[in-house]
Amino acid sequence: MSSSKGQFEQGYQPEVQHQSLPGLEKDLKPGSLPDHLPTPDGGSQLYKAAGKLAGRKALITGGDSGIGRSTAILFAMEGADVFIAYLSYEEEDAQDTKKKVEEKGQKCYLLAGDLTSQANCKKLVETAVKELGGLDILFNNHAYQMMVNDIKDLSEDQWLHTFNTNVHPFFFLSKYALPHMKPGATIINNASINAYIGRPDLLDYTATKGAIVSFTRGLANQYVAKGIRVNAVAPGPVWTPLVPATMNEEAIKQFTSPMGRPSQPSEIATCVVFLAAPDSSSITGQVIHANGGGFTTS
Ligand SMILES: NC(=O)c1ccc[n+]([C@@H]2O[C@H](COP(=O)([O-])OP(=O)(O)OC[C@H]3O[C@@H](n4cnc5c(N)ncnc54)[C@H](O)[C@@H]3O)[C@@H](O)[C@H]2O)c1
Repeated sequence: MSSSKGQFEQGYQPEVQHQSLPGLEKDLKPGSLPDHLPTPDGGSQLYKAAGKLAGRKALITGGDSGIGRSTAILFAMEGADVFIAYLSYEEEDAQDTKKKVEEKGQKCYLLAGDLTSQANCKKLVETAVKELGGLDILFNNHAYQMMVNDIKDLSEDQWLHTFNTNVHPFFFLSKYALPHMKPGATIINNASINAYIGRPDLLDYTATKGAIVSFTRGLANQYVAKGIRVNAVAPGPVWTPLVPATMNEEAIKQFTSPMGRPSQPSEIATCVVFLAAPDSSSITGQVIHANGGGFTTS
């Protein structure tokens, strides 16, 4: 194993910080190494690619930062061209991800847009299919969350906005993408550990993630006989811009797993690569729980 000790020299543990929504990768402390995986000695090693997605074409929402960014880079290392969607505020992060994908020798296309709009979801799929020349992989990855401790303080507007962001676009994007997908294509949805543990201070978000798990299974059943697989990942704590933009100081201090650290975005991205690649050819309707061994709220 070639481990570069010191690659994660700032440590895995987050620094307490606050960012404005939607949060930026460039301001995250410590930052992540999107193409490296942690090693047991506290170092890291470059992800080893094997041409698993050679010639494939992938659309990733929220691809500018965090888990989406690392997935875009690992997809490129495996030989796929990628199209990433993001919010216009995140242009700098998106340009950086594009540069990193291109450094891996693949094409990267960008489109900024708010996916709470059905029209933007349609435009995104149409543009991605046109630019990429087809579509083999859809990673529904974007999300909104905001901590509220008590349902009495959770506004009706926030409840609707969370569902409008996290759930409805997954339906729209899948609906518009599937007519372009051939047998062997895959959809991967980003759920969360919170769907399973029922995190109390993220009630609306937790409910959307439960909906995503059920949507994944139902859509998988619809398309299994057509050769298109639909799966999900359910990450535990992962240090990404979403966290300092939406969680309070106390939650950031406790942002860890039984492994003694949060996951790196790359540790979720490897699961997405697996679900996108033929290695998982008999797996559909399933969820990979990449959560550092965390199964409870405490
Ligand atoms: N970070 C964690 O601890 C964690 C844990 C479990 C699940 N997840 C899931 O991982 C996924 C990726 O999040 P991340 O942690 O990498 O954070 P992130 O902040 O890097 O990515 C979230 C992205 O969602 C996109 N987004 C938000 N609202 C949008 C909108 N209205 N229209 C279009 N795009 C929008 C933004 O581009 C943003 O970059 C999310 O689905 C999140 O729920 C994260």
